[in-house]
Amino acid sequence: MAKLKTRYVCQACGSETHRWQGQCPDCAEWNTLVQEAAANATPFAAKHNLQGGGRAIELVGLNAAVALPERMQTGIAEFDRAVGGGIVPGSATLLGGDPGIGKSTLLLQVAANVANLGRQVVYVSGEEAADQVRLRAIRLGLGGASVRLAAATSVRDILTTVGGDAPDLLIIDSIQTMHSDLIEGAPGTVSQVRASAQELVRFAKERGTALVLVGHVTKDGNIAGPRVLEHMVDTVLGFEGERSHQYRILRAAKNRFGGTDEIGVFAMEGAGLKEVPNPSALFLTQRGEAVSGTSVFPALEGTRPVLVEIQALVVRLASGATPRRAAVGWDSGRLAMVLAVLEARCGLSFATCEVYLNIAGGYRLNDPAADLAVAAALISALSEQPVPQDAVVMGEIALSGEVRPVGHAALRLKEAAKLGFGKGWVPAGTDGPGSIALAGFGKLKELVEQILGR
Ligand code: TYD
Ligand code: MG
Repeated sequence: MAKLKTRYVCQACGSETHRWQGQCPDCAEWNTLVQEAAANATPFAAKHNLQGGGRAIELVGLNAAVALPERMQTGIAEFDRAVGGGIVPGSATLLGGDPGIGKSTLLLQVAANVANLGRQVVYVSGEEAADQVRLRAIRLGLGGASVRLAAATSVRDILTTVGGDAPDLLIIDSIQTMHSDLIEGAPGTVSQVRASAQELVRFAKERGTALVLVGHVTKDGNIAGPRVLEHMVDTVLGFEGERSHQYRILRAAKNRFGGTDEIGVFAMEGAGLKEVPNPSALFLTQRGEAVSGTSVFPALEGTRPVLVEIQALVVRLASGATPRRAAVGWDSGRLAMVLAVLEARCGLSFATCEVYLNIAGGYRLNDPAADLAVAAALISALSEQPVPQDAVVMGEIALSGEVRPVGHAALRLKEAAKLGFGKGWVPAGTDGPGSIALAGFGKLKELVEQILGR
């Protein structure tokens, strides 16, 4: 019998040490080492190599015929789109997101929809009592769906129960509440999360059940537990959004069965999550008369254009106090850069002004193609000259003050035209659909002149 050693596992990065330390030697996080029982060391195996004595495995050519797994449509188009066209049987999916963002709501709706399509669905909640989940289902109008429900946390109990007749879809909410009796440790520790996930994923692969795990995220937005959890599953989905805003975006961070550039857009309403097939309408605020300090940018989410409004406010300071710069939904370093280029290349001074920048609707932009739209909002706010209401603006700004081309310009402009925009302020040389009148800008200075009407 091998000696049972203890080890200390970092709950942030999963690295192991033999001694307790205040700081993890690998990732430098503090107070993350937790004592766990080590797996039984087998001195015999360690002394020998693995070359020989095993079973021969079958090696196949790349061109061997493969049957593509038939995807299971959930009937929620925005969900299917985000996972690449439906859930693959036998696959494991991890859904992460902030607490209260709507993970349980989304999966309950998915479960009910799949069940209504005639599939076997089991929903296991380790966080809420079965009655709580049932009450929510009734409130969402899903009480009639034949989802089988349980509140449980023991992976052995769960797999024993569903093992006889494996369901088409098994939802575990959440993996951090599960525990495996094969190893010691409280639920939520790295080794428990890893062991529970491993067993569940193995069950899914062997029985052809589509498995969906809910994962908690840490304060910096990573899925709690080691990265190894993300490696064990086929698909990692993130459910994002601001709790104070309605919209939610479902985005794949990893997908072994599809691309990661499609998103699903939902709005959290009184009766659960509603699909938003036309996201632009959500982010464009009611646009009455033209006001200064706003511009519209045709953003791209994967292959999907989303029009967002950029708002800027410039407040002149009387005294010599240091002016504030604040950006919500946009990188503040990039805001500083655009301001510096406006100052150095176009002679517009914001030095004595406070500058605030906001992306409407709680949207987060990190596409440099939005530079020109940010600049337009800033110039417009400073000069109090509105950007035309029916114009969309895009272009990347170089430090030299030149305007650089953006990717997928035609796609962005097509969406703008569809929503009734008639003008496009774009980098010089950009082509677009005929229905939109383009003004090309080679230099940022030309945009300033356009807005100031010179
Ligand atoms: P929930 O799905 O429990 O979040 P998670 O599982 O990600 O922690 O969602 C909780 C929030 O969603 C809660 O704060 C209230 C809101 N909500 C609605 O606005 N409408 C609804 O119909 C439901 C079910 C929840
Ligand atoms: Mg939940």
